[in-house]
Amino acid sequence: MKTLSAFLLLVICASWVMCKPTQEKKDRVHHGKDLSDHKHDDSNDFQYDHEAFLGKEESKTFDQLTPEESKERLGKIVDKIDSDNDTYVTASEILAWIKIVHGRWVSENVDKQMLLFDKNHDGSVAWEEYSNQTYGHLVGEVEFYDVHDKDTYRKMMKRDERRFQHANKDGDMIATREEFTAFLHPEEFDYMKDVVITETIEDMDKNGDGLVDVDEYIGDMYNSEVDEPEPDWVKTERKQFLDFRDLNKDGKMDRDEISQWILPHDYNHADMESKHLLYESDKDKDDKLSKAEVLDNWNMFVGSQATNYGEDLTRRHDEF
Ligand SMILES: *[C@@H]1O[C@H](CO)[C@@H](O)[C@H](O)[C@H]1NC(C)=O
Ligand SMILES: *[C@@H]1O[C@H](CO)[C@@H](O)[C@H](O)[C@H]1NC(C)=O
Repeated sequence: MKTLSAFLLLVICASWVMCKPTQEKKDRVHHGKDLSDHKHDDSNDFQYDHEAFLGKEESKTFDQLTPEESKERLGKIVDKIDSDNDTYVTASEILAWIKIVHGRWVSENVDKQMLLFDKNHDGSVAWEEYSNQTYGHLVGEVEFYDVHDKDTYRKMMKRDERRFQHANKDGDMIATREEFTAFLHPEEFDYMKDVVITETIEDMDKNGDGLVDVDEYIGDMYNSEVDEPEPDWVKTERKQFLDFRDLNKDGKMDRDEISQWILPHDYNHADMESKHLLYESDKDKDDKLSKAEVLDNWNMFVGSQATNYGEDLTRRHDEF
């Protein structure tokens, strides 16, 4: 599921030592909207739930803990989530928590990028500060080994500049922290919607008609040139396209349909996830979770070393 730009970035970085990619920004934008970079497949693992519930950084910390430590910390988190102190957590309390966790992650990420790009420490990032550091070698005297690399870089810079312009509301090309957040995390901001849709089309639309057909949609996640029968999950995705993406059934996704797909109004990852965590743990079906219910299903909420250790054992077992 490598996106085009992330892929190009990898290619460029392999031959370009000065390259300082800001990886998250280059990932295709609608993936960033999600609460985790992992696929949500609980039959395989709970990585998605862990990152949604703990945050992308914090979930790594939990992976280092023993099950006992993990459960103890989870118990404390449950106390925090239970904001009305009635000893139960509801879906809306979990939702509020997931939003806090996600907001914290966005904010920490912006802090890191500000440190990197705000060279004169005035609390804002000028386009020049950003582009000098990201694409400085384009304007500078450094020679490109490959003309193609240079073109690719130039395109990426144009695209960044357009996104920066959108984020920068007052048009002075100096982004406040808030505007820089919109630049780095456009999916969090309503006013960035248009540019997010445009970038998505640019990534996926191979025949240049400004729309995304089913083959372009599939081509974005699966390399159809490999010499094998199409796997079932690809067939499922084709059906998804026909049933849920192409709403007006003309065979293509237009801007509206792409918007519905990547930034839907009636579907929200945090909301879905909070209901999911509740549903999967609510043994007595009273629509709320006691601490005991959370701890009984702790593996879904948080990770621990022992889980991975267990997986390793299974894998080794399979090999012999
Ligand atoms: C719940 O308990 C916490 C910690 O004791 C306290 O800070 C908070 O104000 C309480 N909330 C309510 C709604 O009672
Ligand atoms: C960006 O680079 C140019 C050319 O090297 C330089 O003149 C300019 O001062 C730099 N601007 C900033 C904001 O760093």
